Amino acid sequence: MTQMIQPTQSPSSSSLTHHLLICTTCGSHWVNGQKEGTSQGEKLLEKLQSLTLNPQLKIKPIACMSGCSHACVVGLAAKQKTTYVFGDLDPDKDVDRIVATAELYLTKADGILPWGERPLKKGVIARIPPVE
Ligand code: FES
Repeated sequence: MTQMIQPTQSPSSSSLTHHLLICTTCGSHWVNGQKEGTSQGEKLLEKLQSLTLNPQLKIKPIACMSGCSHACVVGLAAKQKTTYVFGDLDPDKDVDRIVATAELYLTKADGILPWGERPLKKGVIARIPPVE
């Protein structure tokens, strides 16, 4: 299903670990303070973990990234790259776009994902510049 894209714009990024952060608590159902069933974030995590991703891309489950009103939330982060946080994602509809956007992120030396190239067109909650 997923085509692996090799980095083309930055030789140095070929050995860099990139993190695909997945909020596992997004879309949780709570009853009397207890979480019930599988959250939408867990569903999204399971779908992404079932795929063969580029080995440079590491999935990292996170319990809340403070974008709760925009469930489901994912992030893309790597050393010396711009960090992105995307929200309003649907585990039934957006898996391919999430993977394609993550693979595009691998190819960008600065991590910037221009709107025209980015498969996830909407839902950017934050774009954080590299700190080093
Ligand atoms: S529950 Fe997902 S960002 Fe807070």
